[in-house]
Amino acid sequence: MTDRIAPALAGGMGLFRALGSNPAVLQSVVRVALSTPTTQRDTFALLRLVAPKLALPFNLIGCYPAKGSMLVTRAADVRAVLSREADFTVVYGPRMRELTGGRDFFLGMQDSPHYRRDTAAMRAIVKPGDLDAVLAMARREAAAAINAGNGAIDLPTITARVPAMMVRDYFGINAPAEQLIPDATMMFLFLFSDLEANPKVREAALAAAARTNAAIAASMATAGAETLLGRAVAAGRAGEPAFDHEGILANILGIMIGAIPTLNKAACLAVEELLTRPAALARARTAARAGKEASVAGYLWEALRFSPVNPFIYRRAVVDTMIGDTRVPADMMVLAANLSAMHDGDALPDPDDFRANRPWGQYILWGDALHRCWGDHINRTILPAMLMPLLAQKRLKQEAAPDGGGLPFPKSYKLSFG
Ligand code: HEM
Repeated sequence: MTDRIAPALAGGMGLFRALGSNPAVLQSVVRVALSTPTTQRDTFALLRLVAPKLALPFNLIGCYPAKGSMLVTRAADVRAVLSREADFTVVYGPRMRELTGGRDFFLGMQDSPHYRRDTAAMRAIVKPGDLDAVLAMARREAAAAINAGNGAIDLPTITARVPAMMVRDYFGINAPAEQLIPDATMMFLFLFSDLEANPKVREAALAAAARTNAAIAASMATAGAETLLGRAVAAGRAGEPAFDHEGILANILGIMIGAIPTLNKAACLAVEELLTRPAALARARTAARAGKEASVAGYLWEALRFSPVNPFIYRRAVVDTMIGDTRVPADMMVLAANLSAMHDGDALPDPDDFRANRPWGQYILWGDALHRCWGDHINRTILPAMLMPLLAQKRLKQEAAPDGGGLPFPKSYKLSFG
């Protein structure tokens, strides 16, 4: 397959380079090439073959300053970028601090004593067995919504609402789902996906942050010992420096932002992808009907390998450095394309095949190395639980494509079944 398409791809690349004489045109071409999971996969396949580290004369991530960009597409290089924390730094700090009112949150920090202190403190307030109640709630809510749906469901009523209920009942932020869902989504957009640095996004995100910080502060007095907030308050009183008042706000705000839009989008993307693969969907349904949550999970991770929430993760070069034999100048934005890495034939066998039993280590669905998702365990538990009752249904059909009302996070995804 690769041999057959290589010459065509090389021709396409020549055209791509010719367009490069005009940076504005090239920028539009790149944006279109990266606009959907299918175009991303095709573009990355092309780049892995002919330009695995493609330098571009503009910064693709307009919300954070940088000089130029580099698309990194081979698995070994993607993993290297994400693990070379001293050379390639996270950039989100300034926007994180705007949302917290000044305090850093650990995803915005380079490896440092402050990063280690906060992540250790956050790990210490998680207890074994914490997810039992979350899992029970996810299963219960998903089954109830499907049963009440009468053959129809708007999927985010499960996949956004369940994480919001987790944020309320387990994280400890006492606020309604109707507030938590749009506010977390807007802050997430501002932090990670506001590639054009739209002033309206900033304004809406700051308003969302004000509401959420007020809700966290108001919840501090009553949050119980079963909640992360309640435990953070107790640890702060016992002298844990990560959990002074501002530290509690920043850490609870940070995990709240990370939890809701991501789980919702991942669930919708996985279902959307499975619906394009009837044979895989039928096998997933058989597993779901048999109550095999671990088997269903395999179908979800594989669907997300084709259509992940984050197709790339970006970093900025701290110093002039090298990736293999390619020079990366200081301040260049480096886009480590995890979607591409998960389709690199050097890293996993038959990457174009849909296989629901790949080893977990072949996936990069939510980051890698130091900043790998703090919610990893939650994701692996809650995504299958939220989707089992839906996937068990016969004649599952998409009635309308996922719709975010102009934002890249589904507010609505109408499906029918039965
Ligand atoms: C399917 C759902 C999720 C996806 C796709 C996702 C994606 C990611 C990605 C790509 C990163 C790495 C970012 C980077 O390296 O620049 C990350 C980190 C992080 N995520 Fe998630 N995430 C999900 C769910 C969650 C949940 C449920 C939580 C909260 C419980 C959460 C909290 C975090 C935090 C705090 C970090 C930073 C970790 C660190 O800096 O050490 N995420 N996530």
